[in-house]
Amino acid sequence: IKKIALLTGGGDCSGLNAVIRAVVKSAILKYNYEVIGFKGGYHGLYTDDYIKMDLTTVRGIFHQGGTILKMSNKDNLFNYPVEDKDGKVVYQDVSDIAVQNLKKHNIDALVIIGGDGTLTSARDFGRKGVNVVAIPKTIDNDVPATEITFGYRTALDHIMQSLDALHTTAYSHDRVMILEVMGRNAGWLALEGGIAGSADVILIPEIPYDINSVAKTVLDRYKRGSKFSIICVSEGAKPLDGKVTIKKIDKDSPDSVKLGGVGEVVASELEKVIKPITGQDIRVTTLGYIQRGGVTNTFDRILGTKYGSYAIDMIEKNEFGRMVIIKNDTMSSVRIEEVVGSGEIGETSRGGARIVNPHGDLVNAARD
Ligand code: F6P
Repeated sequence: IKKIALLTGGGDCSGLNAVIRAVVKSAILKYNYEVIGFKGGYHGLYTDDYIKMDLTTVRGIFHQGGTILKMSNKDNLFNYPVEDKDGKVVYQDVSDIAVQNLKKHNIDALVIIGGDGTLTSARDFGRKGVNVVAIPKTIDNDVPATEITFGYRTALDHIMQSLDALHTTAYSHDRVMILEVMGRNAGWLALEGGIAGSADVILIPEIPYDINSVAKTVLDRYKRGSKFSIICVSEGAKPLDGKVTIKKIDKDSPDSVKLGGVGEVVASELEKVIKPITGQDIRVTTLGYIQRGGVTNTFDRILGTKYGSYAIDMIEKNEFGRMVIIKNDTMSSVRIEEVVGSGEIGETSRGGARIVNPHGDLVNAARD
């Protein structure tokens, strides 16, 4: 009998519980493995905080967002915050303790579910001799090598429903409504969510925007009798002229509430141009963490199940140091080294290339 462990690292997203359920059910029912789950990502691996996972542990979780194994912000064991003797926080490599914990539990393989930082640590644990199988996770859909990540489609549904809701109120008040969505440096969520929610303007990080062409679209619509407009803006969107400084919300700053996101920046610039002409008010909604929560949709339940069960098949075949991917609806895997070594995760250039290639026509639609 093999004994395996799993953990979920980084930020949560819909479909994680579907993956956990698939991992546990496949491991137990298909191969008769023992399974434990470390809590709070790598942090639990370091502190040896774990639960034994059986079929009852994963009962009733399939549809739920989030992760029953929880996440932690102390998630990098290669650069882990500890207090020195003066109470000052210093960063240390505590990964060897994690490796010892795996040995103590006689773990044959570790399933690591996570995004960029988590995958980098997965590679590094692989280099330390741990038998790792990684599963990519992000709502941003920007992990190289795989075509789609779970959580993305559920987030799209939230964006589409929010845009639908904004349409009725925008129409009633003849307003311009801006919806700021997540995606970090990748425009997938804004682009496809915006198209599904019939946004009139979509701003993505891969194509710097010109506030005058945004204004022109709004004004042209107004002239045609559509006195409202909907703008879907990705949190990573940047202006073409670079004059406007986009201030990201800094959670640790006492000024954080005063700092606007890119939605606020677009609103204030746009208002200067359109308000004197049409008198339209502009309102901003930041969708935020709603995109990562709630009930997992059909697609992500199935996708999460595919990722999870494939990872267990890989363990049975001793295929380690690899990340599960999906291409043309077929599961396979790539070396984790290739993914994190590419320098492409979450980078604008990569996101741009991926958006332009499979969806070039959509990008043009968004530009017009
Ligand atoms: O990468 C996923 C994501 O949800 C991004 O879209 C967003 O910018 C970021 O995580 C937010 O991270 P945090 O949970 O650290 O606030």
